[in-house]
Amino acid sequence: MHGRRLIAAGSFALLTLAASGSLRAADGAALYAANCVACHQPDGNGSEGLAPPLAGVLGKRAQSANGREYLAQVLVSGMVGNITSRGVKYNGNMPAATLSDEELSAVMGYVLTTFNNLSQPMPAELFSAARGKALTPSAVRQQRERVLAEVGGE
Ligand code: HEC
Repeated sequence: MHGRRLIAAGSFALLTLAASGSLRAADGAALYAANCVACHQPDGNGSEGLAPPLAGVLGKRAQSANGREYLAQVLVSGMVGNITSRGVKYNGNMPAATLSDEELSAVMGYVLTTFNNLSQPMPAELFSAARGKALTPSAVRQQRERVLAEVGGE
């Protein structure tokens, strides 16, 4: 009797774990839809004159330590000024995201997995570290230039 109750309790715990696992994965998509989609578009291809693409361009950035620091900084501090992405010029204003470190981790996980085919996680600690050395939005744009000179990309 006892044993069976224990097993029932155990499988309930597993079910709860599984459910929270899929909730986490869904979170990134929901956060993207609520906070990013208006500018970067549902397919992550951005919109000329408004916001650059996030699709297919972030792989090299996400795989270098300086690049990950840059990506975390964009979310935490925002970015402003002239940039070129996939040969197209943008002069927009990326607002600093008002999300928690965990939420930033989830939304960037979604962006990297879904739009860049990359299972490179950006843990919450990266975003808390970025907050610790927050930059002005135009300094973030300069950081982008340094990172692209290092890892390549446009
Ligand atoms: C109000 C429009 C807007 C919203 C909302 C927005 N962005 Fe941006 N984002 C921009 C613009 C504009 C830039 C480029 C800034 C520039 O031209 O200097 C940018 C740049 C970026 C970059 C850097 C791209 C590169 O080429 O290096 C990333 C990453 C990014 N955004 C992610 C996000 C994520 C994730 C969200 C949602 C949490 C988000 N953005 C919400 C407008 C927006």
